Amino acid sequence: MKIISSIEELRDQLRGQLRTAFVPTMGNLHEGHLSLMRLARRHGDPVVASIFVNRLQFGPNEDFEKYPRTFQADVEKLEKEGVYVLFAPTEKDLYPEPQEYRVQPPNDLGDILEGEFRPGFFNGVSTVVLKLFSCVQPKVAVFGKKDYQQLMIIRNMAKQFALPTEIIAAETFRADDGLALSSRNGYLSSTERAEAPSLYQVLNQVADQVRSGRTDISEIENQAMQSLSKRQWQADYVAVRKRVDLQAPSEEDLANKEALVVLSAAKLGNTRLIDNLEI
Ligand code: PAF
Repeated sequence: MKIISSIEELRDQLRGQLRTAFVPTMGNLHEGHLSLMRLARRHGDPVVASIFVNRLQFGPNEDFEKYPRTFQADVEKLEKEGVYVLFAPTEKDLYPEPQEYRVQPPNDLGDILEGEFRPGFFNGVSTVVLKLFSCVQPKVAVFGKKDYQQLMIIRNMAKQFALPTEIIAAETFRADDGLALSSRNGYLSSTERAEAPSLYQVLNQVADQVRSGRTDISEIENQAMQSLSKRQWQADYVAVRKRVDLQAPSEEDLANKEALVVLSAAKLGNTRLIDNLEI
């Protein structure tokens, strides 16, 4: 595997490749990321991964500094997956000057759910992803459904800018007890790790209630928030939304059996976890 940090060298290395499959990451790779690499391989060749902890998507009080950086271990894992190029730019490589041009997602998608609790997050994500796409010029790029809103925003961005990159969605990779794999799981104490799968259990309860025909969505969401808070979680939101645009379903949408998803973000101790489940 070639490890490349400069944009120019990356372009030289990938010149003439028409079927590149790309997986952008922030490193600290786990089985979830590796499943994205495997999916990428099924959709293109060569597979290119990136590791870049993107300062633009972290708020001032978030974990940019302490975000786990495990470069050597990541390289070994990617080599085993047969990744052709790892693009691992430094901040100077990717942002040689302050990144003043930004991608601003529309408010009705970018400022709800994660965007409400992490202002500027999707501006930072969209900007770096557009820039990475411009460097790698992939035919396809793989994003996990675990970051459901991120996936939708990137997909819409690719469509609206007519990018020549197809966005592929990968199912969430879960531990045996249901916890969605995430680099931030590493922040959990052993007691918190034992409690963490209850987020997914609560999402399942919400999904079951909606599937059983209940239409009092706000009540279901409130009960879910309360059951998390009884278990010492601080929930930012539990929200049942339409899959198509992440807006709340109307009574008519519910009657028409519109496809839904329940999404949640909640803090356990100091660790903020997100998860979702398609209903
Ligand atoms: O999901 C992530 O790891 C990041 O948000 C991404 C897409 C690599 C952009 O920094």
